[in-house]
Amino acid sequence: MKTILIAGGNSGIGLQAARDLLADGHRLILLGRDPRKGEAALASFGTAGDRASFLAADLPTHDGVRDAAQRVLGQHDRIDALVHTTGVFTFQESRTADGLHPFFAVNYLSRYHLTQLLLPALRQARVAQRRRGIPAVRPRSSARCPTWVSCSVRSMSACGRTPRDCAGPWSPWRPSPPPRSS
Ligand SMILES: NC(=O)c1ccc[n+]([C@@H]2O[C@H](COP(=O)([O-])OP(=O)(O)OC[C@H]3O[C@@H](n4cnc5c(N)ncnc54)[C@H](OP(=O)(O)O)[C@@H]3O)[C@@H](O)[C@H]2O)c1
Repeated sequence: MKTILIAGGNSGIGLQAARDLLADGHRLILLGRDPRKGEAALASFGTAGDRASFLAADLPTHDGVRDAAQRVLGQHDRIDALVHTTGVFTFQESRTADGLHPFFAVNYLSRYHLTQLLLPALRQARVAQRRRGIPAVRPRSSARCPTWVSCSVRSMSACGRTPRDCAGPWSPWRPSPPPRSS
């Protein structure tokens, strides 16, 4: 059983990922803004909801992300994986308290920053995995899994394969074909 944090887990894609990961037997921490949606999500899991908790967090600012990370770390010293589905879809000209467009702040910066702040718990989980003899998964940090569109493993974050293991038709790890000689 792994402990997996799903940012944006009270709705949409994150909620579906939560259902799949619970079905795979994992323990979940769901993050989202709206506590009522969080409670509704937990209630919808039935008995599997015993393995899930919800933490209300507002992530459009540096302070909001720090606060969320501190509360997560206060309750969990080990996290095996993060799933980032937090997102807003707005083209309105507005700015967060940090002076950034919410689209950039929430959809991009909050994910990066939250990951950075939760690294101690991620590393702690890795230490525990190593003790149990579980080999390291080392995808290149700059690359996302190239097969996510067609992946048959629904809970990809927990599948344990590296992108290299299941590279599809296109892969950044495959050498480009040699240029044609004219
Ligand atoms: N659905 C699609 O077809 C699709 C396609 C391409 C890309 N995407 C991207 O995939 C991501 C998830 O999409 P979705 O359809 O699952 O969207 P969604 O149902 O609207 O879910 C977004 C999640 O992000 C959370 N969230 C939004 N603003 C937040 C904030 N300031 N602080 C903390 N949590 C916040 C929401 O929590 P609350 O509900 O509590 O606010 C919700 O849990 C988005 O980035 C979206 O742009 C979606």
